[in-house]
Amino acid sequence: MPNITFSAPIMKKDKTIYAVAGNTSTILALAKEHEIPIPFECGDGDCGSCLIEVTALGDKPLMGMALTEKEKARLKELQMISPAELELAEVNDTPPRFRLACQFIPRDEDVLVSFTGTPGGSA
Ligand code: FES
Repeated sequence: MPNITFSAPIMKKDKTIYAVAGNTSTILALAKEHEIPIPFECGDGDCGSCLIEVTALGDKPLMGMALTEKEKARLKELQMISPAELELAEVNDTPPRFRLACQFIPRDEDVLVSFTGTPGGSA
């Protein structure tokens, strides 16, 4: 069961939640459920307002689900993914640092999710 810790300057303190094993909710859905104020507009990978930074906690390498074409396109447009990160994501399935909360589904890994509270703001 992964622990997901949310951190943002607009939150009084960090909040850690426990995602149920086999959970298929996106980070955005989990945040909404726990009243964590990640900005969002479309909820469907189109607007980029739900930008988050994802960091692995613990010693397991980050194994977040591969990027969808939509998420890749939006991250490129926002200039939040470098060509090198894109290649790593496509060739090695290595997740990049920045993700869209409405597209990213956490797996069995502890992660820190940071966001600024500004729509599309980098963490
Ligand atoms: S809410 Fe629009 S891209 Fe995530």
